[in-house]
Amino acid sequence: MMKISKQTLLTLAIFAIAISCKKTEEAPSQPNTLRNVYKDAFYIGTAVNRFQIEETDSTMAAIVGKEFNSITAENMMKSVHMHPKRDTFNFEIADKFVALGEKYDMFIHGHTLIWHSQLSPWFKTIEDSLEFADVAEKHVKDITTHFKGKIDSWDVVNEALNEDGTLRNSIFLKKMGEDYLASAFKWTAEIDPDVDLYYNDYNMTNVDKRKGAIRMVKNILDQGIKVDGIGMQGHWHLNSPSLEDIEQSIIDYSELGVKVAITELDVSVLPNPWDLEGAEISQNFENSEGMNPYKESLPDSIQVKLANRYKDIFNIFLKHKDKISRVTFWGVSDGQSWLNGFPIRGRTNYPLLFDRDLKPKAAYDSIIALKERFDKQPAN
Ligand code: XIL
Repeated sequence: MMKISKQTLLTLAIFAIAISCKKTEEAPSQPNTLRNVYKDAFYIGTAVNRFQIEETDSTMAAIVGKEFNSITAENMMKSVHMHPKRDTFNFEIADKFVALGEKYDMFIHGHTLIWHSQLSPWFKTIEDSLEFADVAEKHVKDITTHFKGKIDSWDVVNEALNEDGTLRNSIFLKKMGEDYLASAFKWTAEIDPDVDLYYNDYNMTNVDKRKGAIRMVKNILDQGIKVDGIGMQGHWHLNSPSLEDIEQSIIDYSELGVKVAITELDVSVLPNPWDLEGAEISQNFENSEGMNPYKESLPDSIQVKLANRYKDIFNIFLKHKDKISRVTFWGVSDGQSWLNGFPIRGRTNYPLLFDRDLKPKAAYDSIIALKERFDKQPAN
């Protein structure tokens, strides 16, 4: 056997260490952030509010930039904010929102063009139906013209359905009839043919509403008008909707030949007033101790339940990643969540991935670990 001197061994060892150091310098491993870990599956997004858009808090700004590769404006692009008067648009904060997305190389989602809620009050003063239709068209076209080439997808119509799958009797339906739906998609595509067009709604896992959404989108597609995707908002709870309904909905929607996005994901850990028969939500339950059980902190057992629920939900998303374009959380941290004030004001909810001190929660770890396990599975 060839004899190797100590000196040679030492030289070889130094050489090996030098090579391995060089290797790490050349290819630093990507930190395990959501956007990195999920980058080959689908976009991971968050809703951002005015403070996040203006990056007023450096810890929060760092989380948004590192963890997410898509953003949605939580409120600032709704008509009440962006189109406050008939002849006045307020694009200032929305332009900063776009700049934020560009800074971090994000997929930028516009929310929302046609929605009965948070609608500028002046819309409601227009009596004449033809005038109303003209105004709706101008609203859609002026906004999409301003953002042409800067916004990657739009929620063209938001929440047009009732729970039984029929069309909501909104001001748009009353004034324009059901054609308003197809028209809104047509107007948007006319201005920006490259932007992705979505229909977005909540409770999209409910069977009747699901059927209604499929009927409605199919009807638009059958007229030769483009719809690129369906947004399931995903305002969910610890025990509902069922995993089966979530999975089946993703499958059913994608069978229309459109993309599926989860657009406003959060998981409430608090009692759901809609589970209680005949509830008069805000009046009956405000200040009710039973409806706000974790005022001081979240018990470990619920923290674990939340982490498991997120893991189960993301397991379905990963299984159907070929159908899913984007999963967006409705905010970054629990302190920011709209669920502290809805459907009952003044509660303390814990629906997101970062806690009130901006620390990642067990739910965050669970979906990172899930993806890492998923990546190690042998391909079949
Ligand atoms: C919510 C915002 O999070 C709140 O800040 C605001 O007060 C009300 O609207 N469906 C939607 C979102 O499409 O725009 C809503 O966002 C939540 C329900």
